[in-house]
Amino acid sequence: MYNTMDMQLIKFQSHGDERGSLVAIEHGKEIPFDVKRIYYLYDTKTDVARGFHAHKKLKQILIAVNGSCTIILDDGKERKSVKLTNPDEGLFIDSFVWREMHDFSEDCTLLVLANSHYDEADYIRSYDKFLEMAKS
Ligand code: TYD
Repeated sequence: MYNTMDMQLIKFQSHGDERGSLVAIEHGKEIPFDVKRIYYLYDTKTDVARGFHAHKKLKQILIAVNGSCTIILDDGKERKSVKLTNPDEGLFIDSFVWREMHDFSEDCTLLVLANSHYDEADYIRSYDKFLEMAKS
């Protein structure tokens, strides 16, 4: 059976040479959905945590393009933590997974690719409600 908590780190090919590094993400190749929205978190304070929600339908890929942060994933049965430190890896987060973002480094820029537009109705912001919905 498909498990939303299976290892979901996607390694991107980094094209590096003496000038530096470059990662390209192309439609239909590196990631398992069509990207409809891109946003990024930056200037995040080191002592704050963000997220604390799940999505009913939305799927996302998180990439720490600079710096690092720790992502906690929770499917209602299991909780795990993944530290993003590399601009050449993306963390896939499926729908119905509770996520929290912690320990942002001062220089962290967290890029997010999403498969649909912003829709507040897609958010589950109560952890208790999430647990209830995850059970059914
Ligand atoms: P919020 O959901 O609080 O961010 P996080 O999950 O990182 O804690 O979003 C912060 C604000 O940005 C909030 O007012 C909603 C707005 N926002 C958009 O307008 N579009 C978006 O795509 C996202 C993700 C947030």
